[in-house]
Amino acid sequence: MIDGFGRNIDYLRISVTDRCNFRCTYCMPEQQSFLPHRDLLTYDEIMLLVERFIAHGIRKIRLTGGEPLVRRDIHVLIEALGQHVRDGRLEELTMTTNGSRLEQFAPLLAAAGVKRINVSLDTLDADACRRISRGGDLDTVLAGIHAARAHGMDVKINMVALKQQNEDALLPMAHFCAEHKLDLTLIETMPLGAGILEREESFISLDDFTAPLRARYTLLPLAHKSAGPARYWRVEPLGLRLGLITPMSHNFCDHCNRIRLTTDGKIYMCLGSELHVDLRKALRTDTLADVDYLLQKALRLKPQRHEFETQLAQPDLRLARHMNATGG
Ligand code: GTP
Ligand code: 5AD
Ligand code: SF4
Repeated sequence: MIDGFGRNIDYLRISVTDRCNFRCTYCMPEQQSFLPHRDLLTYDEIMLLVERFIAHGIRKIRLTGGEPLVRRDIHVLIEALGQHVRDGRLEELTMTTNGSRLEQFAPLLAAAGVKRINVSLDTLDADACRRISRGGDLDTVLAGIHAARAHGMDVKINMVALKQQNEDALLPMAHFCAEHKLDLTLIETMPLGAGILEREESFISLDDFTAPLRARYTLLPLAHKSAGPARYWRVEPLGLRLGLITPMSHNFCDHCNRIRLTTDGKIYMCLGSELHVDLRKALRTDTLADVDYLLQKALRLKPQRHEFETQLAQPDLRLARHMNATGG
């Protein structure tokens, strides 16, 4: 699928649930109501849509949430998608998870053909971890990470940079990742959902956040491996691969290769835009030809870039949608 700006869209992120057993401060409000079950796409509906997406050129799928591993019977979907990987219809199946159920699911994910997995972890300090995720247990997440490695999966740690909350966690995290052969991706916090103002207060650019790392080590740029938001560096002599995701300070939308399917069947063309098309309605009331038509329509809606800066400046344009609803 080529969008209106000449970008090849071959990567679909599917949010399988808006629920999560953590409540990271930058992702969800403390009190959050979740979608009623009837609004969720069923696994059959997701698989039907995946067929159409593959027919239109999607080659990579990432499952996200909320926390994807808390949805009931998620193994059914993982196994069905894994079959597409084995048949060569998909190049890659991946997942972004908070790691809390990874120890239990690592064997199943590896068997389904998942070769790499991203785990959200913002600090290695147990108290700070509990505070930022409003209840997450560090040791359980670490056990999940080690289980994924033991089952042969590559693991990338996603660390959201939070001013005065985990700035001192960067060096320990870099050392931990180098020691255990994990990649590390740092992410600038994005202004989505309620609590935007608190989010602005905790914003720190990655130029500032990485200063202690750059003072101590050398960062060498790596060639772009694939499209997508992260720019990669090698941290020497640590031997760490470091990704920087800087939506706010250095825009990367020219390389965007992705679209998002929400838990309730909407297809969002960009994390930072409200433009979307409702596929669930078409799926439940119309024909597959209508679904195909809507997919083409959605492609034409994909904006050139996110609008976070404008949204921050103009309160009435701010996105009420939380990250857990769109899948990060
Ligand atoms: P790969 O590129 O497949 O390795 O994964 P990824 O880093 O895109 O996946 P992951 O789910 O771990 O994403 C990490 C974070 O990057 C997301 O949670 C978002 O915060 C951010 N991100 C990913 N894609 C986009 C995007 O298209 N736009 C913006 N603004 N942020 C994105
Ligand atoms: N800004 C940036 N990243 C976020 N994530 C969740 N909310 C935000 C936000 N407001 C990231 C998490 C996780 C992924 C699913 O989304 O760190 O890795
Ligand atoms: Fe849950 Fe991930 Fe959101 Fe944290 S960032 S609340 S772990 S979905």
